[in-house]
Amino acid sequence: MKRIRKAVFPVAGLGTRFLPATKAIPKEMLTVVDRPVIQYVVDEAREAGIEHLIFVTGRSKTVIEDHFDIQFELYETLAQRGKTEQLERLKAMQPEPGQVSYTRQQVPLGLGHAVWCARELVGGEPFALLLPDMIMQAEPGCMKQMVDLYDKAGGNVVAVEECDPDETHKYGVVGIGEPVHDGFAITGMVEKPKPADAPSNLYLNGRYILQPEIFDILASQERGAGNEIQLTDAMLKLIGRQPFHGLHFRGRTHDCGTPEGFVEANLAFAADNPALRANLMRTIRALADADRN
Ligand code: UTP
Repeated sequence: MKRIRKAVFPVAGLGTRFLPATKAIPKEMLTVVDRPVIQYVVDEAREAGIEHLIFVTGRSKTVIEDHFDIQFELYETLAQRGKTEQLERLKAMQPEPGQVSYTRQQVPLGLGHAVWCARELVGGEPFALLLPDMIMQAEPGCMKQMVDLYDKAGGNVVAVEECDPDETHKYGVVGIGEPVHDGFAITGMVEKPKPADAPSNLYLNGRYILQPEIFDILASQERGAGNEIQLTDAMLKLIGRQPFHGLHFRGRTHDCGTPEGFVEANLAFAADNPALRANLMRTIRALADADRN
């Protein structure tokens, strides 16, 4: 079985749900507590053993490339001022030379199209796909949990999480089959079903391990919902042809692509940070008291 060495990060979306914040700044560069959202996702991939990072970018996303590059003047200034801790932290986050590749999706034709744009960089091997606006609180990280299942079960793996059964219309929802190791077989996927039509309340939380045959299916450029090339449609065609597993992810996902999810992520990660927690709780208590009065 081939090891998962490469990860794809599609960052070419327009982020319309988070305008005007995303007019000039990519949503992946918005800050959760003290780091851009994209840094959480890259750290999660590296924890899972990923060696090569592939970004599918678009216009006005060059700041993402700058974030993962060396900032020579800044490093020099930090060194001269003896700010060793900050300098070491930046260096630890820095990918090795040659460890990152960028390709452009010239027109945002949908997630499936963005993934297809990475086909030459991925080549003929299974790969991880991480949607960079979804960040997780989990120990170990979500992708590490998935790689652990992939190492036992092979095939394709998607992570799923429970949603409120009344809110299935917001998500891609999966059908649940037989247990496979500590995961289960996926029997189907439905994009944004009404609660009455949903096969379960387990939704796709933005983490995938996919076999390279997905590129052959995406190559047909078939349009789906919203006239976009949908990844879910391509995955549906793989189910039945190849093993497709679900991992009931142990942790919590925050959707940073909307103001609600982004605020929630900031609160959740700040509450986990010992330096920020006490002050945050005082503020929340004061807000709750003011709300009651
Ligand atoms: P989303 O639909 O959540 O992102 O796509 P979006 O299109 O940026 O956001 P809204 O709906 O307009 O607010 C999921 C992921 O797929 C990427 C996005 O960047 C996001 O990380 N994506 C989506 C692309 O790279 N290209 C596309 O054409 C569409």
